[in-house]
Amino acid sequence: MKIICHGGAGHTPKVQDGVDKAAEKGWSVLKETDNALEAAITAVIIMEDDFRFNAGTGSCLREDGSVQNDSSVATSDGRMGAIANLRNFKNPVLIAKELLDEFPVMLAGKGAIEFALKKGYKQTKVKGSEKGWTGDTVGAVVQSSKGDIVVASSTGGVRGRPVGRVGDTPLWGSGFYCDEKIGIVATGVGEAITEQLLCYRVAQHSENLEEAMEWGVRLLPKDTGVGVIGINNNGQICGSSNTSMPFSIIER
Ligand code: GLY
Repeated sequence: MKIICHGGAGHTPKVQDGVDKAAEKGWSVLKETDNALEAAITAVIIMEDDFRFNAGTGSCLREDGSVQNDSSVATSDGRMGAIANLRNFKNPVLIAKELLDEFPVMLAGKGAIEFALKKGYKQTKVKGSEKGWTGDTVGAVVQSSKGDIVVASSTGGVRGRPVGRVGDTPLWGSGFYCDEKIGIVATGVGEAITEQLLCYRVAQHSENLEEAMEWGVRLLPKDTGVGVIGINNNGQICGSSNTSMPFSIIER
C-alpha cells in the first residue's frame, strides 16, 4: 500500500502540513478499505478544502476575476474522467470521478456544469484566492495492496490566464497518466507540461522512476516551474520538481 500527495510546484514549504494531512487522511481510508480510488479522492478533497492550495476553494483567479477548475482521475484498470473550465463547485475532483464510468470521459464548461448538476452536486460560489504563486495544482497517486493504482489531480489553473484556457491537469498523458504499471500526475506551468506530453513520456522511461522523473523535469526550461509524483509496480514511489513542491509519502 502506498500514497503520495503533492501541494503544487512552486508552493512554499509552509503548506507541508496540509499535504501531510491529505496523505494521512488518504492513508487511513486506504488502510480501512484497500480502495485506492477512495483514498486518492479523499486526499485531493482535503487540499481542495484548504484555502492555501490552488484547487477547489483556494483556486487562483482568471484574467476576468473568475475561478475555473480543471480536474482528472484515472485508474490502472483503464478508466479515466476529466473536467475542464468547471465553475462554482467546491470539489471538482468528485465530478471528474463521476466520469470514470461514463462515456464521454471528458467534459468542459457548460456541459461539465450540467453533468455535475445532473449528478446531484450543488453549485456554490467559489470565490478563489488572489494570493500566492499561481502554478500550483494538487494531486495524489495511490496503490492498494492488490496493486491497483489511481491518480487524481485538481487545479484552479494559472493566475491571470484567459477565460476558457485549459492547462495540463485534465489532459490525458500531459497532466495525468495511469496504466497497469504506473501512475503519474504533474504540476506546474500547464502549457509547457502539455507541449511535452509529460506524464506519458515519463511513464515510458519508468524502470527507474526517480531517474525518469528527473529526466522529465529537465524536458522543461529551468525557469518553468514543474513537478511530478508517481508510483510504479516495481515498488517505487517518488516525486521530483525544479521548484520547492511540497509532497508527502506514506507506505507500508
Ligand atoms: N498545472 C496547472 C495548470 O497549468 O493549469
